Amino acid sequence: MEKLNRENDIIVSTINSGEEELELSLRPQKLVQYIGQHKVKEKMSIFIEAAKMRNEPLDHVLLSGPPGLGKTTMANIISNEMGVNIRITSGPAIERPGDLAAILTNLNENDVLFIDEIHRLNKSVEEVMYPAMEDYALDIIIGKGPSARSIRLDLSKFTLIGATTRAGLLTSPLRDRFGVMCSLDYYKTEDLKQIILRSAGIIGIEIDNAGAEEIARRSRGTPRIANRLLKRVRDFAIVKGKGVIDFETADKALLMLEIDSIGLDRLDRKILNTIIDFYKGGPVGVDTLAASIGEERSTIEDVYEPYLMQIGFLSRTPRGRIVTENGFKHVNKKITKKDQIELDIE
Ligand SMILES: Nc1ncnc2c1ncn2[C@@H]1O[C@H](COP(=O)(O)OP(=O)(O)O)[C@@H](O)[C@H]1O
Ligand SMILES: [Mg+2]
Repeated sequence: MEKLNRENDIIVSTINSGEEELELSLRPQKLVQYIGQHKVKEKMSIFIEAAKMRNEPLDHVLLSGPPGLGKTTMANIISNEMGVNIRITSGPAIERPGDLAAILTNLNENDVLFIDEIHRLNKSVEEVMYPAMEDYALDIIIGKGPSARSIRLDLSKFTLIGATTRAGLLTSPLRDRFGVMCSLDYYKTEDLKQIILRSAGIIGIEIDNAGAEEIARRSRGTPRIANRLLKRVRDFAIVKGKGVIDFETADKALLMLEIDSIGLDRLDRKILNTIIDFYKGGPVGVDTLAASIGEERSTIEDVYEPYLMQIGFLSRTPRGRIVTENGFKHVNKKITKKDQIELDIE
């Protein structure tokens, strides 16, 4: 019984952590409602259909990409489309091999086990995962010392869905055991606009095309940010405007939130300015940068850098991060001759 409670703790702890109610209500439930990411959707729909036809669980799926792009959403959709249960946990929540064993033995046939931040599984837990993924089996050691022996327990067939912000941090034995790998890209403005229009309908705020487009353009290619900005702009529209989101309301509200014309926030600009002002545009190591800014290294690496690189404002070199010419321009700084030489070398 104690084991079971512990398992429930692990499962529940991640469901509640930081998940806003709003996010849950806006989360698409079916594949057709999942906007954008066409390649991923097409791939998944074929694999889901094939698995259903064979009446087998779906192959293990690894979803990677920056926060807020729809990994958790996709995992839920997969379980819905397969018509099976989903158990949700995360890498850091599974502390001991026994925790994982308890979760695995409680799965039903074809269930989905979703492990968020799977790159943070510890080594001893990960080793339990290998035979579970490969043979749906659990190897248990009974006894101690010379008389110890290992017995193999069969598990129900299941699908592991792992999510990670950085696939590169997975060990290769774990990565190799996933049959399907999907990496999610930043969304196009047009797709984000559709997401915003859908969300506006759900939360019940009137919005016009130009308003939706402006929020979409300034959402860093990320649905979670799009939904969050929509909510803030709605508040602004209700208090300061006529309760309708048009271009002007969106623009004013976003300026008040210090989201600039291309969607960068204060920390984005602080990163660019710090590298330029204190390190002559770079190169600077990420630890040094994190210390100067007073942010976690992982926040910079997982959230900020990928987008600044995507839009070509930052680039990563073996000697550290450098701000590109476009990055200098965006924060209205002139690139000096010396900075230019550094950039040319790369
Ligand atoms: N393709 C999509 N279509 C519509 N909404 C999406 C999509 N992807 C994500 N969202 C929205 O963004 C929010 C964050 O997505 P989530 O799956 O939690 O991201 P991740 O797990 O990658 O951090 C969801 O609650 C959902 O409302
Ligand atoms: Mg998630």
